[in-house]
Amino acid sequence: MGTQAGHVPVMLEEVIEHLAPRPGQVILDGTAGGGGYAAALLERIRPGGRLVLLDRDCGALERLIARFGRSGDVRYFHANFCDFDEVLSEIEQEQIDGATLDLGLSSLQLADADRGFSFEAPGLLDMRYDRSQALTAAEIVNHWPADRLASIFRDYGDQPFARRIAKAVVRARRRRSIRRTDELAETVAAAVPAAWRRKQKIHPATRVFQSIRIAVNDEYGSLNTFLDKIFDYIKPGGRVAIVAFHSGEDRIVKTHFREAASRGLVTLPVTRPITPTAREVKANPRSRSGRLRVAVRLAAAG
Ligand SMILES: C[S@@+](CC[C@H](N)C(=O)[O-])C[C@H]1O[C@@H](n2cnc3c(N)ncnc32)[C@H](O)[C@@H]1O
Repeated sequence: MGTQAGHVPVMLEEVIEHLAPRPGQVILDGTAGGGGYAAALLERIRPGGRLVLLDRDCGALERLIARFGRSGDVRYFHANFCDFDEVLSEIEQEQIDGATLDLGLSSLQLADADRGFSFEAPGLLDMRYDRSQALTAAEIVNHWPADRLASIFRDYGDQPFARRIAKAVVRARRRRSIRRTDELAETVAAAVPAAWRRKQKIHPATRVFQSIRIAVNDEYGSLNTFLDKIFDYIKPGGRVAIVAFHSGEDRIVKTHFREAASRGLVTLPVTRPITPTAREVKANPRSRSGRLRVAVRLAAAG
């Protein structure tokens, strides 16, 4: 999960190679996070370029401002990437040369017990990227009906025992509210068959946590909205590079890219997703499920 010092960017070289940033270009990083992509982009678009950094997490933005400073060529926005068009309008930037998303959460967020993303760093169930948002993981776990819980465990986590786990969560919360990440992890672990649990390489609660995080932050909704409009803002020859970390997310990117290609809006330089090298996976195990897809805006259509 990265290093203790911070978030290690996943497939950085590949993302930069495919975005192919050049001096003077304008690039949007919709999930700026620890600034790993941003630093590499900035180096290549200077002089004369402009980097637009977005993150839903105020803490991440503060660290980015401390890292890159308030120079005119980097702009920071506390915004959901699905609202990137409002940001571009605010800075009077009609079209851009490239956009990137590196989906999900950073190692810093995962390791911070106070953010409630992980049972390995036990804390209160929260999981909001944007802490001004009302909906938290505790609300979902303690108040959503069993059917709705089972649906998110299945649809956002590919969880085989979704219904069984949902029922166990409802039974546990009747006794006492589930407040902490470790309490939820124990409830999930106790709900799945022991033989299955022993065969798994990951903790039985990992995918349940993933699915709750996706629901808390409406991650699929944001991604769909972004993909519905991004190509309208990319200049001919400009590129969009997106790194997804699980099959549901990657499917959304693949479907939108293929649909845009079928309309003659973009070309897809690689048909299969690019995955990290064995060397990267060894150095940064978090990268192992990363899948990069790239689309290049065509000139003629639109
Ligand atoms: C995997 S990290 C990005 C790491 C970054 N590429 C780097 O090199 O350091 C993902 C970041 O995206 C942010 N994020 C997640 N969903 C978002 C959304 N819909 N809009 C804006 N930021 C989002 C998270 O808060 C987190 O900081």
